[in-house]
Amino acid sequence: MLQDRRILLIISGGIAAYKSLELIRRLRERGAAVRCIMTAAAEHFVTPLSVASLSEDKVYTDLWSLTDESEMGHIRLSREADLVVVAPASADLIARMATGLADDLATTALLASDKPVLIAPTMNLMMWAHPATQANLATIEARGVKRIGPGSGELACGEVGSGRMAEPLEIVVAIERILAGAARLAEKRALVTSGPTREPIDPVRYISNHSSGKQGHAIAAALAALGADTVLVSGPTQEPSPAGVRVVPVETAAEMLAACEAVLPVDVAVMAAAVADWRVETATGHKLKKDIGAPPVLRLAENPDILASIAQRGNDRPALVIGFAAETENVVENARRKRLRKQCDWILANDVSPGTDTFGGDRNTVHLVDADGIEAWPVMTKREVADRLAERIAQHLGVSCPRGS
Ligand code: PMT
Repeated sequence: MLQDRRILLIISGGIAAYKSLELIRRLRERGAAVRCIMTAAAEHFVTPLSVASLSEDKVYTDLWSLTDESEMGHIRLSREADLVVVAPASADLIARMATGLADDLATTALLASDKPVLIAPTMNLMMWAHPATQANLATIEARGVKRIGPGSGELACGEVGSGRMAEPLEIVVAIERILAGAARLAEKRALVTSGPTREPIDPVRYISNHSSGKQGHAIAAALAALGADTVLVSGPTQEPSPAGVRVVPVETAAEMLAACEAVLPVDVAVMAAAVADWRVETATGHKLKKDIGAPPVLRLAENPDILASIAQRGNDRPALVIGFAAETENVVENARRKRLRKQCDWILANDVSPGTDTFGGDRNTVHLVDADGIEAWPVMTKREVADRLAERIAQHLGVSCPRGS
């Protein structure tokens, strides 16, 4: 599976850098071409000469090397790879990835990359558990970066806990899975909606809801990770744009519908946005004043139903149209009816009643409802829901599952 695949291996500073030498050997014996970038800190742990000998290629260390830049160039380093692997990934490098720094060759290549990225973190257990590290990790994972490990055990510092870099063979298996999966939806186009819509009342006020965009963005990232040409039409959110996804920002339901229609035709449409059902019939062009004697009366008008309108299109109807149903009671039964009414193929029912934390939280409990019945999924993170859904979509569109994944 790895024959002739091109891996860009970024080695950052950590005692586990010695394991990256073993990783290079395992990748090379499977036929992969391994090109390496070392950070300055990595050179304290392993030498460029060892890395060059095992990879049988030049090792890149310096952003400012005129020779390297004229021969290869930092952009080409990541563009020519099929996958970028960061092993070991130190707390420092993860933090620099999260903030988008580009002050050395490793971070510049990562920022300029349009390829899948896999990290194998390693660090002291307190550094791993620190909220700053966890927040940085959440940021880069939301952008689509994949992670293997760390495992638990005795660490180089003598303490015991989480922070051990995954073993080289475990990393090889993760690489094989990503590369096998990366092309599965390569010929497919996907449309995903995410986040809330904002319906203006006046120039400073609006009607909206608590959708964070976490679920929709994770679905777009998961489809892109399988190689789908993915467009994400999103209402206002704080979520970072997933890597390799074209994001079309919108505010209102009408804008979201127009943006979705402009993206057609697609093979699959997943409507995860929480679209406001109503808008203010006539939003004023000036700020409503309090001193008009009585509170203003807002007359609402119904918004277009984007899911129904995409599901009921003619020739350019996507082969698979998927909606979400946000329900607070009779969750599955209401979702079942919604699927029939809107004429989508699948609907994912989720309970959004108070206390569930579905809106804005990191976890979701869904039931997949289709023409064949109802499938209960266990409580999962939104990213896991997204991966499972993307897998189901790939199967449905007739793209078979790679062995071992
Ligand atoms: O964004 P998060 O914080 O991660 O939360 C995720 C979520 C709860 C928002 C998401 O999982 C979800 O349930 N999205 C759908 C929310 C919603 O609007 O549900 P609904 O039951 O009102 O709508 C049913 C379906 O019709 C949805 O696919 C919705 O996108 C679509 N719809 C609704 C109204 C409308 N005018 N146009 C639509 O297309």
